[in-house]
Amino acid sequence: MKEKLAQIREQAISALKGASDLRTLEDAKVKFLGKKGELTAVLRGMGALTPEERPVIGQLANEVRNAVEELYANTKTALSENAKAAKLQSEKIDVTMPGARRNIAKRHPLSQVLREVSDIFLGMGFEIAEGPDIELDYYNFEALNIPKNHPARDTQDTFYITDNILLRTQTSPVQVRVMEKKKPPIKIIAPGMVFRSDAVDATHSPVFHQIEGLVVDKGVTMGDLKGTLETFVKKLYGEDVRVRFRPHHFPFTEPSAEVDISCFVCGGKGCSVCKGEGWIEILGAGMVHPKVLSGCGIDPDEYSGFAFGVGLERIVMRKFGIDDLRLFYENDIRFLKQF
Ligand code: DAH
Repeated sequence: MKEKLAQIREQAISALKGASDLRTLEDAKVKFLGKKGELTAVLRGMGALTPEERPVIGQLANEVRNAVEELYANTKTALSENAKAAKLQSEKIDVTMPGARRNIAKRHPLSQVLREVSDIFLGMGFEIAEGPDIELDYYNFEALNIPKNHPARDTQDTFYITDNILLRTQTSPVQVRVMEKKKPPIKIIAPGMVFRSDAVDATHSPVFHQIEGLVVDKGVTMGDLKGTLETFVKKLYGEDVRVRFRPHHFPFTEPSAEVDISCFVCGGKGCSVCKGEGWIEILGAGMVHPKVLSGCGIDPDEYSGFAFGVGLERIVMRKFGIDDLRLFYENDIRFLKQF
């Protein structure tokens, strides 16, 4: 019996000491001290001993149990601390590491320049007007002196919804809507989306933006138009930029002009941006046609007005030197980040 106890003691000690984690330690404890454990079996067998042997063996067995229990408790503390230290180590955060950078949203270049343009006109006393993207043929064409079968309709590849309803091809219909509602003096700009059935390439998109301008009052002249547009262009592109009016034709203005600005890259000498011309076309304009005025209930003998239409994409491309219109609509963060 004594030998058996000594053997158990040794085995238990080496098992407990050898335990590398809490689970093996627990298994070892059960093996020796559990209900069916080896030491428990010895204690259970004490009944078979003689009365002389009993206290001796009993004491010895208790010593073994105490020793094993103590070793178990100490090892458990040590292993728990190790486990905790390992966990802390693995969860350690280096607060001095740089954080992951997030992309902070910015205003789209088209919106940025639209704001700038709007601010320039607001500063000159203009108000902002709006009209629907889905428009009646009447407002998009008819009231602008472009009757059915007029050749000007062919130049604007229109998305028709029905014979009478279409996606507006220009922001000019807003002029008519404003003049129908409001008596002069009128001084508005109307920014918005326009639609043309064009194939997509570097300079064409079926959806783009225009900014319409309209001024109607007594005694408005072509000189007012020139002054307004010159102020606008110089504020947008810089004081050195020169403006040139070229005769043109639009059905809703008479006379009509296309407006060029001196190339802000080469200053007018000729370069790849202005294709060697020294000038860049940026908008269409003119004096509102008397027919358009009278169609809206404004007496052309009493009032006159000027109007203009600017392509937003174009002026943004020129402002930032962007050579492909598609970049505006692809939402590539590497492009958008640059503005
Ligand atoms: N609506 C014309 C276009 O889309 C641009 C334009 C030209 C607007 C002359 C005007 C204007 O108001 O007077 O091509």
